[in-house]
Amino acid sequence: MSSVTPSGRRVSVRRTVSKIWDLRALLYDVCEGSDLRRGPAKAELFRHMRGRALFVAVGTGLDIKRFPPGLEIVGIDISETMLRRAEPRAHQYPGPLKLLQMDAAHLGFADASFDTAVTSCTMCSVPDPVRTLRELYRVLRPGGSLLMFEHVRSRNPVFGLALDLMTLWTRLSGTEMNRDTVQNVVAAGFRIVSIESAYLDIVLAIRGTKDAPPKNHTRREAQRGPRGLTHTLTVR
Ligand SMILES: C[S@@+](CC[C@H](N)C(=O)[O-])C[C@H]1O[C@@H](n2cnc3c(N)ncnc32)[C@H](O)[C@@H]1O
Repeated sequence: MSSVTPSGRRVSVRRTVSKIWDLRALLYDVCEGSDLRRGPAKAELFRHMRGRALFVAVGTGLDIKRFPPGLEIVGIDISETMLRRAEPRAHQYPGPLKLLQMDAAHLGFADASFDTAVTSCTMCSVPDPVRTLRELYRVLRPGGSLLMFEHVRSRNPVFGLALDLMTLWTRLSGTEMNRDTVQNVVAAGFRIVSIESAYLDIVLAIRGTKDAPPKNHTRREAQRGPRGLTHTLTVR
């Protein structure tokens, strides 16, 4: 677990979340292991990984086979059972890949210590997505890349409502189907580089960056965000 000491409420949320995902880990590969989970779109996104990369949350490691070889990767997850199942896949990665049990909202890494931050079906699962994204922003170096493969709430009113209704029960097992992840990315301070559709406007490959502050900016100005949504969605 992360070395950060969170408040009492945070500890109990963290315990509940990790218990839910420990249970889900038992059948995770059976339910989610198929390449129907948009494998090629993920591989295309992960192609942009560079240097020292942080993968949040790694789950049972299904995505590891799609990482470019030879990077230095740290994979974290809140669930010990997920991580245990990810271990054999981590061993097969051709490069240094370390797995750590950690809460994504309290990362035990130094500021600006990664070149790339990657998420995959993570933002539907963490209790506080903006806080998590702010942590990713903190640990990413200026100029570094954020790569996300996420499902989000549709802007189509019918699909959007369907996702709201689904969330009433998926929430019980830790999954929110209707988050506005693009807005959350911007709220955390990132600039959106591109958004590509992997399925309608519901499953998205999002690329963002932490801009280096202009030389005459103060630290406070650099942290202010959000910068506004200037992207266009590319539908395949
Ligand atoms: C839907 S799974 C995705 C796993 C993997 N990225 C994949 O696509 O197969 C969500 C993952 O988020 C992890 N998770 C949930 N809350 C977390 C948190 N606060 N910190 C770190 N990991 C968390 C769960 O344990 C689970 O492995």
